[in-house]
Amino acid sequence: KHVAVLLGGFSSERPVSLSSGNACADALEAEGYRVTRVDVERDVSARLADLKPDVVFNALHGPFGEDGTIQGVLEYLQIPYTHSGVMASALAMDKSRAKTVAAVAGVPVAASLVLDRFAIAGEHPMEPPYVVKPVREGSSFGVVIVKEDQAHPPQIVTSSEWRYGDEVLVERYIHGRELTCGVMGDTALGVTEIVPLGHSFYDYDSKYATGGSKHVIPAEISPNLYQKIQILALRAHQAIGCRGVSRSDFRFDDRFSEEGELIWLEINTQPGMTPTSLLPEMAAHAGYTFGEFLRWMVEDASC
Ligand code: DAL
Ligand code: MG
Repeated sequence: KHVAVLLGGFSSERPVSLSSGNACADALEAEGYRVTRVDVERDVSARLADLKPDVVFNALHGPFGEDGTIQGVLEYLQIPYTHSGVMASALAMDKSRAKTVAAVAGVPVAASLVLDRFAIAGEHPMEPPYVVKPVREGSSFGVVIVKEDQAHPPQIVTSSEWRYGDEVLVERYIHGRELTCGVMGDTALGVTEIVPLGHSFYDYDSKYATGGSKHVIPAEISPNLYQKIQILALRAHQAIGCRGVSRSDFRFDDRFSEEGELIWLEINTQPGMTPTSLLPEMAAHAGYTFGEFLRWMVEDASC
């Protein structure tokens, strides 16, 4: 089979996609596929129409690669592709609308508002602590945590430096542990706890710098909670209509009760795919080599 691996692209997450894409392309070659690496530019449609691959392996992250737009191009070209389709991609990319759909399916989410970023210039949009997030971004780009004692809303959001769109999500801040769960088809792969080392949360640097965070899989949590997270990750994947793989991120706060509060933050339809990224580690935990995992994704591709 001839597989075109889409990588790079022009979102803020370009560097992440280059490492995901090159890692996947290397491993797919080792699995015996004929692989062409396609660094995505505006002419991607014409290039794919010429190339006529059997399957597109989508290793893009962020706007244009994860939000339904490239998926729409692939539908038009009738080329089977990995990961979610148009609707689920567009929905999952929008953190606010994704929460609405997940909540209806019984997935616990944090209270939030969607606002124009200039609406938070003067006073706090909600009682701190809260988090401001771009509605459509990944890899923690533009995520700002506003602590209890902060007198004013964050200035960066209304400044000319802000590059993440005018719509922002303002969400109640959830203290506690970061847990994440991968899904492959109709099964959950396991739960990882992310322990940021020397960072206050799992921000861009702790995600991608070596030694920036520690991944503990299986997460050291009660069997009940472990099971609950797997069920909720699958439920979110299904409610949003995802295909192939996804990864749901959660927070768990057990300061106030033994049972604790579990909150689903978001689903990623194009999770990071280097061998040390969370999802491939979960697949390894579930018994798949990186090559086997990628082979499954390629064989599962459709359009
Ligand atoms: N947005 C990054 C790639 C992730 O979710 O893994
Ligand atoms: Mg994300």
